Amino acid sequence: MAVTRTFSIIKPDATRRNLTGAVTKMLEEAGLRVVASKRILMSEEQAKKFYEVHAERPFYGELVDFMISGPVVVQVLEGEDAVKRNRDIMGATNPADADEGTIRKTYAESIEANSVHGSDSDENAATEIAFFFSDDEIVG
Ligand code: TYD
Repeated sequence: MAVTRTFSIIKPDATRRNLTGAVTKMLEEAGLRVVASKRILMSEEQAKKFYEVHAERPFYGELVDFMISGPVVVQVLEGEDAVKRNRDIMGATNPADADEGTIRKTYAESIEANSVHGSDSDENAATEIAFFFSDDEIVG
């Protein structure tokens, strides 16, 4: 299996509860390595653009408001089959449906405040990494 990269966000509900370390530990224990990380406050413009695929969905406005409600930690994760590995440890979007031992089952508050984002394909990972990081900020 090839070593690849994915993009992760530790969302405002998790940073608010001081869970950056706890979430990162679960990512690391799942075999992912943090090769870039920064804590930022997303602008409304950034959040709207990042989630523009959901622009027509009823939850879009609230999702954007939530994502700018506090700091987030954006990360590039590296590992074997990183996109799938990360999606597996994240768990289902709705924590009520997430498997035991996943980040969302352990920490998420709701389907919106669900603690983490993770890219859903290699193509989206590349786009999302480039949205937040320049090449020289990623040290593998
Ligand atoms: P989605 O891409 O479907 O899920 P995932 O984050 O697991 O890839 O949705 C993006 C985010 O939108 C999701 O993490 C939380 C939010 N969301 C809602 O607030 N309500 C909803 O009904 C859905 C489907 C998503």
